[in-house]
Amino acid sequence: MYKHAGAGWSIRPFTLNDRISCLRIFSDCLRDFPWRGDWKAYLPVLQNAFVSSRVLVAEEPSAGMIAFLTVQMRTGYVDHLFVDEDWRLCGVGRGLLEVARYEAARPLILDVDMQNVAARRAYEKLGWHVVVDAKPLRPGQQVRLVSP
Ligand SMILES: CC(C)(COP(=O)(O)OP(=O)(O)OC[C@H]1O[C@@H](n2cnc3c(N)ncnc32)[C@H](O)[C@@H]1OP(=O)(O)O)[C@@H](O)C(=O)NCCC(=O)NCCS
Repeated sequence: MYKHAGAGWSIRPFTLNDRISCLRIFSDCLRDFPWRGDWKAYLPVLQNAFVSSRVLVAEEPSAGMIAFLTVQMRTGYVDHLFVDEDWRLCGVGRGLLEVARYEAARPLILDVDMQNVAARRAYEKLGWHVVVDAKPLRPGQQVRLVSP
């Protein structure tokens, strides 16, 4: 589907066998968000996204799965984007968003936590903008962004 020639990782559609690896990345990432509380509280939303959203995974031959993204194809809303800590700043998030943007054939949107400074910096570098009149999922705690 998409292969990064230099770095060796590639992006492909999710299969049911990927669930455990997605959960590992998901729980590892959410543990770094103390403001979110217990990561298990977010499991139902993730499980639902596995069924109702388009799910893309990034993998590397020796590391296995290193990231995943879920996007609602009808709206372009990105429910989840999580990159394994060891694989950040390698273009994986950019790659997943580019494939999702291509498949959705429309600008993507997402809600990012105000406290999530690293992700907000990343989206800024990727050219995303704040949607001024939008209602994020958690008003006051998140900001809604739109992709180029
Ligand atoms: C946010 C996240 C998805 C970014 O993924 P990533 O694979 O590290 O991002 P990329 O390597 O594709 O970087 C894309 C751009 O953002 C920049 N960037 C990424 N992380 C950054 C950071 N912490 N600070 C500043 N810039 C950053 C990169 O330098 C790159 O810009 P450049 O091409 O001009 O150099 C990743 O850090 C992550 O999974 N974080 C934990 C979970 C999370 O916060 N998810 C988002 C929820 S809305």
